[in-house]
Amino acid sequence: MSDLAVLQAEISAAIVAARDERDLEELRVATLGKKGSISERLKALGKMSPEERKTAGVALNALRDAVAKNIEARRNVFAEQALEARLRTETVDVTLPARPESRGTIHPVTQVWQEVIAIFGDMGFSVAEGPHIETDWYNFGALNIPPEHPARQEHDTFYFHPRPGSNDRMVLRTHTSPVQIRTMETTKPPIRVIAPGRTFRSDSDQTHTPMFHQVEGLVIDEETHLGHLKGTLEAFCKAFFEVDAVKMRFRPSHFPFTEPSMEVDIGCSWEGGELKIGAGDSWLEILGSGMVHANVIRAGGLDPEKYQGFAFGMGIDRIAMLKYGIPDLRAFFEADLRWLRHYGFSPLASPSLAEGLSL
Ligand code: PHE
Repeated sequence: MSDLAVLQAEISAAIVAARDERDLEELRVATLGKKGSISERLKALGKMSPEERKTAGVALNALRDAVAKNIEARRNVFAEQALEARLRTETVDVTLPARPESRGTIHPVTQVWQEVIAIFGDMGFSVAEGPHIETDWYNFGALNIPPEHPARQEHDTFYFHPRPGSNDRMVLRTHTSPVQIRTMETTKPPIRVIAPGRTFRSDSDQTHTPMFHQVEGLVIDEETHLGHLKGTLEAFCKAFFEVDAVKMRFRPSHFPFTEPSMEVDIGCSWEGGELKIGAGDSWLEILGSGMVHANVIRAGGLDPEKYQGFAFGMGIDRIAMLKYGIPDLRAFFEADLRWLRHYGFSPLASPSLAEGLSL
C-alpha cells in the first residue's frame, strides 16, 4: 500500500471513531490544519520535480478534498443527532394555558354593564352619559319633582353645600334619570338611548350601597306606546337571563316623571337553594318604568303634543346579583381578591349576542 493510501485509511478510521464534534475538530486540525499531515505533504510538493509533482499533487488534492468532505458529512450526522436529542427533551405541550397564568378578572358590574349595552345596542339603542354631580334641577326639578315633593325623601340624597348666590344646589345624582333631560336637550327625536352609570344614595345594607349602578332607557318619537315598552323589556329580559321565555309582571306604580308608571317583576323560583329566573311562583322586582310625563318632555325642550315615549331605570348591580347568584351587594365594592377571583369574568371574552353573553 502506498504511503498516501495508508494515510487515507488511517484518517477514514479516525473519522469513524470520532465520538463528537470536538474529536472531529481535532482531527481536522491534525490533517487539514496549518501543520496537519495533509498540509505538510502539500507543502512538500514544492521540493519535487515537475514530473513527480504532477501525479503526487493530483493524488494529494483528491485526498484533501475527500477528507474535508467526510469530516463535513460526519459533522452533519452529529448535528442531526444533537437536534433530535434536544427535540426529545424539549417537548412543548401547546394545549397548556399560557404562562404566567392570567390573574385579573372582569368585575361582575363591568360584565353586566357590557352585557346590557350588547343587548340594547343590538336593538338599535346608543349609549348616553351624564355627570355624577348634578344640579338639583336635572336630578329633580326637570323630572317633575319640585322642591318639597315627597319623592325627594325617598331618594336619600347626598347634597352639596349651596353655592353662594344660587339656590340650585348640587347633588350626587340619585338616579340616571337626569340623563333623560340632557339627552332630550341635545338630541332630535327619534331618541333611543340607554345611560348606564353610577348613582348615589345615603343608604347601606345587604342590598344597598351608597354608590350603585343603574341603567336608564329612553325612547322618544311620535308614536312609541306602552306596548313597545313591554316588548322591549321582555326582549331584554330573555336575552339578559339567557332563557327562551320569561314570566313578567307589570305592576302599577308611581314615579313623578312617568305617567302611567309601572314596576316590573320577573317570575322566579328557588330550586334546591338556587334561584331560577324566568318561571315560578315568586316575583322579583327588577326595574321601574313608564311613559315619559309630559312635563318631563317639556323640561327636555320638546313638545309633548308632538312627542311621546317611554323610559325605564334598572339596577345594574341588582340584575348582576340575580343573574350570577351573588348574595351580598356590599362585597361588590370591597375589592376582596378572593371575591373577585370567584365572581369575576375572563378578560379575554367580551359579551356579545353572537358569541354568547356570559362564557
Ligand atoms: N329613576 C327611577 C329610580 O331610580 C327609575 C325609573 C326610571 C322609573 C325611569 C321610571 C322611569 O327608581
